[in-house]
Amino acid sequence: MKACIFDLDGVIVDTAIYHYQAWKRLANEMGFDFTEEQNEHLKGVSRMASLEYILSWGKIVGKTDAEKAEMATRKNKWYNEMINQMTPAEILPGAREFVQSCRDAGIKTAIGSASKNTPTILNKLQLARLFDAVVDGNSVTNPKPDPEVFLKGAIALGVTPEDCVVFEDAVAGVEAAKNGGMKAVGIGSKETLSKADLVVSGLDKFSLEMLNNL
Ligand code: G6P
Ligand code: MG
Repeated sequence: MKACIFDLDGVIVDTAIYHYQAWKRLANEMGFDFTEEQNEHLKGVSRMASLEYILSWGKIVGKTDAEKAEMATRKNKWYNEMINQMTPAEILPGAREFVQSCRDAGIKTAIGSASKNTPTILNKLQLARLFDAVVDGNSVTNPKPDPEVFLKGAIALGVTPEDCVVFEDAVAGVEAAKNGGMKAVGIGSKETLSKADLVVSGLDKFSLEMLNNL
């Protein structure tokens, strides 16, 4: 393996709680509630696609594109108020150490995330310099499970898809990796991420040795 591509939310940092709180506030303003269980379905799902789910759960119909854009902007403002408070203490266990061990072994590293807030989060966590390339929601048009984000990552790193391992916590993300001809390590539960080549609970449970054995 010549390269590791990491999803950001749920793999390097747990931002799901902040997405949840911001979407919940939006839902509450429209007069309905939004559960943590529903939030699970939004992992790996783009901002506008997430909004569509929330509107359908709240049985809200007839919103214009301009109104939807305003709602997404409002949610993102609240989300940014929270992520701007993040510190490196919120990096998930083992994440920084594993990415660093890849670099030390001469393996290239990239971020492949749907989030348009990726640059803010990497800066807050002081991780930007750990990655040779960053491909995020600002440079991708087709959402996961389309492999675009990871294929662009491979191109940016100068490697072929077969040389890449993707680390993902979302079902759509694992599918995107497989659709791109890459190996996928699931971060989470085996039941949910059954299409991954291997599933671990977190990067603290993964090693270079396991990478070589994939
Ligand atoms: C990640 C998260 C999703 C989020 C998406 C877009 O994939 O798992 O929950 O909706 O990024 O994030 P953004 O920061 O652009 O709103
Ligand atoms: Mg994720």
